[in-house]
Amino acid sequence: MCGIVGYTGNRKAGPVLIEGLKKLEYRGYDSAGVALHDNGRLIVTKAAGSVAELEKSLNEHHKEVTAGIGHTRWATHGPPTDLNAHPHSSASGEIVVVHNGIIENYRTLRKRLTEEAGFKFKSETDSEVLAHLIEYCYEGDLLAAVRRAMSEIEGSYALVAASSREPDRLVCARKDSPLIIGYGEGENYVASDIPALLAHTRRTCVMDDGEFAVLTPEKIEIYNKDGQMLDKDILEITWNLEAAEKGGYDHFMLKEIMEQPAAVRETLRQRIKRDSGLVELGELDLTTEQILKLDQIYIIACGTAYHAGLIGKMAIEKLAGIPVEVDVASEFRYRDPLLEPNQLAIVISQSGETADTLAGLRMAHTKGLKVLAITNVVGSTVSREADRVMYTWAGPEIAVASTKAYVTQLVALYLVAIYLGQTRGTLEPEKAGALVDGLLALPEQLTQVLSEDNIATIRAYCEHLSRWDNAFFIGRNLDYPVAMEGALKLKEISYIHAEACAAGELKHGPLALVEEGMPVIALATQEAILDKTLSNIQVVNARGGAVFAVTREDFEDVSWQVESIFSLPVVCDTLAPVLGVVPTQLIAYYAAVARGCSVDKPRNLAKSVTVE
Ligand code: AGP
Repeated sequence: MCGIVGYTGNRKAGPVLIEGLKKLEYRGYDSAGVALHDNGRLIVTKAAGSVAELEKSLNEHHKEVTAGIGHTRWATHGPPTDLNAHPHSSASGEIVVVHNGIIENYRTLRKRLTEEAGFKFKSETDSEVLAHLIEYCYEGDLLAAVRRAMSEIEGSYALVAASSREPDRLVCARKDSPLIIGYGEGENYVASDIPALLAHTRRTCVMDDGEFAVLTPEKIEIYNKDGQMLDKDILEITWNLEAAEKGGYDHFMLKEIMEQPAAVRETLRQRIKRDSGLVELGELDLTTEQILKLDQIYIIACGTAYHAGLIGKMAIEKLAGIPVEVDVASEFRYRDPLLEPNQLAIVISQSGETADTLAGLRMAHTKGLKVLAITNVVGSTVSREADRVMYTWAGPEIAVASTKAYVTQLVALYLVAIYLGQTRGTLEPEKAGALVDGLLALPEQLTQVLSEDNIATIRAYCEHLSRWDNAFFIGRNLDYPVAMEGALKLKEISYIHAEACAAGELKHGPLALVEEGMPVIALATQEAILDKTLSNIQVVNARGGAVFAVTREDFEDVSWQVESIFSLPVVCDTLAPVLGVVPTQLIAYYAAVARGCSVDKPRNLAKSVTVE
């Protein structure tokens, strides 16, 4: 959610922290701050607004010092103000902290520290209590104080603390929120995400829950929860900083939409056997016997990943004959699902850090289910807690609106469905072969979908759409979850209220809202039920709705019935969502641009949602 950067070394810390924070702004962007060690004092500068605002207010002299910590915030407790921004200082100002996560017992601790130590709190945040508590526990050793303080904390944290009495020394702690150490020469780094480190080092180490780390310019020491020093593996990062930047596009979202052909190619790579053309998923690590015994799968995810799960359900049920339930993760834990150890849970999360999804994963574990994670982020908490991991390999996704992560999640789910179907014998070899051919054709077809002509069609429709405050997305069967994803994307970034409706349900109520000119985006990619969808489109036409149809180029009947049309290359019904979703992403993007919205960082949202 929030972004954290820490530096200790021989260079000016100010610019290192500011540049690192800019790389992390997608994690939170409503306020930012830094604390710099300066001749036995910790100087804190913080401001509501962007990192650029913070940079302007940073005193030139303080930019010279060589150790400090920084933070970019996404508000949870208290509005985005200067006071609520991190770093937070202790009563004496000798301790500063930056924190990502939620301190669940902060009220109790705040009361205690006020009564017992007379500390005065300046902000409305839960995080401030950490600075005071560490000061309360401090007896000359920051590591010992942080350890003692964390033993009293209920909740989640990625924390970096500094003490004015220990210049050049940073102490880090992690529980349920990511923190990554970066190794340099005569300088060391810590950050909540890899893009903040890449300009300086590729040698990293992902901290695990319950671990503490101490950074000085010369060395890094990592300890487990019992205080034993650990010899952790170094993770060498192979991807480029450039890959995490805009690459010539106006927005990350557009860049990421355009990267979808390559991303899908990566998801497929090495998962299809060259000789037999069969799907090979070693990462599932399930024996044939285990697969044959599977009688129920639960898919658990949030938002866009949940929409991918809905399509995964249909694919797995159809191709492998296993019943699948799909749950919004925040609901899963509270509905007492009938979980049994011989079932499989699949959690889907682009970031691998979503708190609700993690909670679902942990609940499935406590009931004895094996958990397969489909995620994009190597070393993420989901990837490390799941029994098996299938990476989507989409590359870093920076825009808050998820696009390439979604299509690669779909492809991963198709691979799982085909693999389970092959192994269970529910999918005939010819059908499996045709689906694999279809998957392999997707990157090229996605490139066609993203042609300039197609984009011009979308832009023209968006001139109309962007003037409306309401829109419908309709579709049947596999087109319905795509409609849900299209509606989510449109509201998320353009702030146009959009509702997805199963096309056949329109007449049972929502049709009352359709009036002359109302934008209705109709997904009509499913050959088996095309006539039914067309009837539903006609019902909208009859009320004057402005229908934009996403359909296949060979479905000639659609074109004369709608106002605008977007033609996809020929694709089978099962795989059509991978292509069909792309025009809906572009519609959201160009409508948001036309309305002057902050496309990559929509209001009130964050990329990685690490609170429940
Ligand atoms: C998608 O555009 C959204 N920003 C959001 O719904 C997102 O998919 C959801 O928060 C889940 O995130 P995750 O995939 O990182 O778990």
